[in-house]
Amino acid sequence: MDKLKILAFAGSTRKDSYNKQLIRLAAEVFDDTQVEITVIDLKDFPMPLYDGDHEGANGLPEKASELKKLMADAHAFMISSPEYNGSFSAVLKNTIDWTTRPGAVEGSVYQGKPALIISASPGGLGGLRGLRHLRELLGNLGVLVVPAQHAVSKAHEVLGDETSSEELKKILTPMVAGFVEIVKKFA
Ligand SMILES: Cc1cc2nc3c(=O)[nH]c(=O)nc-3n(C[C@H](O)[C@H](O)[C@H](O)COP(=O)(O)O)c2cc1C
Repeated sequence: MDKLKILAFAGSTRKDSYNKQLIRLAAEVFDDTQVEITVIDLKDFPMPLYDGDHEGANGLPEKASELKKLMADAHAFMISSPEYNGSFSAVLKNTIDWTTRPGAVEGSVYQGKPALIISASPGGLGGLRGLRHLRELLGNLGVLVVPAQHAVSKAHEVLGDETSSEELKKILTPMVAGFVEIVKKFA
């Protein structure tokens, strides 16, 4: 069987984003004999704030079309989501909103695909509350968000420290392996 394609990204465009660091760390623990994982940075996919008039006049922004094609090509998604005021980030919602609009590819790029969601925050809950909202949002799009998830609290201490990052990888490894088994069933 061909390798499973997983598209991974963080819901933050910040240069030193903890969620970007986490998504890169999580990408390292996938079995690369089975999985081709593509990590993208939403900073490279800037889109205007969704506006129906903008869409009516210009259609889908170029970067939304580009991202939709990458999403269409993926069997599954892994998303690391920052938590802002108890929910996911505006940039993540805006990206999802644009990529659910018609154009660039046929049909939904989300429907029927599994996703693994994780989060990182300097706070004590690690962005856990935002994951609840993200799970619901993705579920509404027909994404199968797997039950396993992980929120990294005190992210500034964990991700900046080699020993703690290695410990974190040990937590992520079985979670990612379980996710891949599910992706195989849906691919
Ligand atoms: C507007 C705003 C609201 C925030 N709300 C929360 C929150 O509810 N829970 C939390 O754990 N962190 C919160 N934070 C802190 C973020 O977790 C922190 O800025 C984090 O670094 C953002 O993710 P990133 O490092 O991937 O960019 C908030 C930050 C901002 C700017």
